[in-house]
Amino acid sequence: MSTIQAVRVHGYGGPEQLRLESVPRPEPQEGEVLLRVYAIGVNPIDWKIRAGLFQDFFPKQFPYIPGYDVAGIIEGVGPGVTTWSVGQEVFGQGTKGTYAEYIVTAASALAPKPTTISFAEAAAIPVGAMTAWKALFQNGELQAGQRVLVLGAAGGVGAFAVQLAKWGGAQVIGTASTANLAFVRSLGAEQVIDYTTTPITPTALEELAVQAVDLVIDGVGGEVGRSALAVVRRGGKLISLVEPPAPELAQRYGVETMMVQSPPPEDCLKTIARLVDEGQLRVTTGRIFPFREVREAHMLSQTGHGRGRIVLQLD
Ligand SMILES: NC(=O)c1ccc[n+]([C@@H]2O[C@H](COP(=O)([O-])OP(=O)(O)OC[C@H]3O[C@@H](n4cnc5c(N)ncnc54)[C@H](OP(=O)(O)O)[C@@H]3O)[C@@H](O)[C@H]2O)c1
Repeated sequence: MSTIQAVRVHGYGGPEQLRLESVPRPEPQEGEVLLRVYAIGVNPIDWKIRAGLFQDFFPKQFPYIPGYDVAGIIEGVGPGVTTWSVGQEVFGQGTKGTYAEYIVTAASALAPKPTTISFAEAAAIPVGAMTAWKALFQNGELQAGQRVLVLGAAGGVGAFAVQLAKWGGAQVIGTASTANLAFVRSLGAEQVIDYTTTPITPTALEELAVQAVDLVIDGVGGEVGRSALAVVRRGGKLISLVEPPAPELAQRYGVETMMVQSPPPEDCLKTIARLVDEGQLRVTTGRIFPFREVREAHMLSQTGHGRGRIVLQLD
């Protein structure tokens, strides 16, 4: 039996719970493919699940392999799979964890990798871009000409939300720290607010002429999300990636609030890949770590700061 290297978690806790181990190479079952992994996107949900913060919603059986975002090459196909063949370059989501040299995943969870970018860049896309897509176009029902406020505009989701909102014909305002202001502007935001020098309060937003906002994409939550409600027009929406403000408060402002919800449209990843290859969507990787430095990657992700998606790269 051949073995591979995989990162496994044996119990809820800190980054030390991430252990690089030899495990049997998985076999694709009905409807699955075997993927040789080239790069893995590190999402905040990966450390939140590892830390046990989501045990009520996503209880884990130990040991488990973390991770959702992945890019690699098809190495084998399971029974009934006709959509993929060995050697194709793909990206998408791992349905059984992605922190491994080889994974099996549902054939339907992958799309052809954009041809103009690296595997590391491709692995930085799936959760971030699909969450942004759902929040803007499905839950947010964004229309061209509307005004969108993206809270946390430099992150793995926010950077896509800014660009996709622009692509959808919206005007975009973003919030970021000083080091990321120029970056968010370069993505197309008309106005970028430095939350480190201008704390996001209703008064501060009004003073900056941020008003009559149609849609807020909230990747920050808490007091920041609550403050944003004050500048949304009556009948507008706030789509939260973390926790929507209390319903009573939303009602007082006449704003519809909800958590971003899945699933995305069937061809979402394919459309995103096309936009990347057409040069309409830029992919930003955060720091790229070698696979063996997975603990360092989680420590950085836990800070909640940075630009683009952190990536683990395999040899
Ligand atoms: N519900 C879902 O389906 C779903 C899906 C994806 C993500 N999420 C959640 O959404 C959140 C964002 O995800 P992500 O992947 O974009 O995270 P990320 O890549 O870690 O980025 C977080 C970003 O937030 C910015 N930030 C931190 N504090 C801020 C503040 N007070 N105001 C404005 N910006 C601030 C950081 O920018 P600076 O460096 O400039 O501070 C950083 O760029 C996470 O909590 C994640 O778990 C939920």
